[in-house]
Amino acid sequence: MITVIGNLKGGSGKSTVAFNLAVWLAVHGERVSAFDLDPQRTLTDVAEVRSDEGYTPLFSLHYGGADLVDELTSKSGEVIVDVGTADMEALKSALSVADRIVIPVPPSQADIWSTQRFLTVIDRVTTQKKPQICVFVNRADTHHSIRESDEAEEALGELDGVTLIHNRLHQRTAYRRSFSEGVGVFELVPWSKASKEFKSFAGILYPETREKKGK
Ligand SMILES: Nc1ncnc2c1ncn2[C@@H]1O[C@H](COP(=O)(O)OP(=O)(O)O)[C@@H](O)[C@H]1O
Ligand SMILES: [Mg+2]
Repeated sequence: MITVIGNLKGGSGKSTVAFNLAVWLAVHGERVSAFDLDPQRTLTDVAEVRSDEGYTPLFSLHYGGADLVDELTSKSGEVIVDVGTADMEALKSALSVADRIVIPVPPSQADIWSTQRFLTVIDRVTTQKKPQICVFVNRADTHHSIRESDEAEEALGELDGVTLIHNRLHQRTAYRRSFSEGVGVFELVPWSKASKEFKSFAGILYPETREKKGK
C-alpha cells in the first residue's frame, strides 16, 4: 500500500511520522520502501543517522523528485512517502498514486485552514484514483486545560471526505530526541507515553501489521 504523509505546511511533523512509521513497519517484519520527495531531505538524513549508528532493522530509502513515482508504484510491500511543498511536481505526482494520504495537523487555526487548502489540492490532483484521506492532530498539548487540541480535532472532524484518527500525538521532547538519534520513538524508551501513543497510532493505520509480533 502506498501511504503518502503530506501537508502544505512545514513543521507539522510529516518527516517525524514518516520515519517512525517506516521503522515501526520494519520492526514488525514488513518490507518497507520509504521515498523522500521533499528537497529538505529530512527523512533521508534521519535514515542515514539510523544506519550510521548501527540500529536495525533498516528500511530502504529512495530520494528524488517526480521521476521516482514510477519506481514507487512498482514496489511490493509497504511504501511510505514523505512530501513537502518545495517540489510541487513531486508532491502532486505522489498524491496522484497514493492509496492513502495521512495528514498531520498541529492544533492551530492556521493549520486547519491550510489542511482545508490541502484537501482541495488533493481533490484536484486525484482524478484517476481517490485515496483514503486520514487526518490527525500532531503536536497536541499535553496539558488538559489547554483546549486547542480538542477544538482542532473537532474542526478536523467536520471536514468532508476525511477519516479523523482520534489518536493524537502530543508535543513531546521524545520525538525530537528520537529523531536526532535515528531511532523510533517507541525504541527510545519503550514504556514512555510517546511510545504508547505512537504504537497505538501506527496500529490504527496498519491493523494487520499490529497483529504480527514486533522484534
Ligand atoms: N509530536 C511532536 N512532538 C515534539 N516535536 C515534534 C513533534 N512532531 C514533530 N516535531 C518536531 O518538529 C520539527 C519539525 O518536524 P518534521 O517532522 O521535520 O516536520 P515536517 O516534515 O512536516 O516539516 C522537528 O524538530 C521534529 O522533531
Ligand atoms: Mg519534512
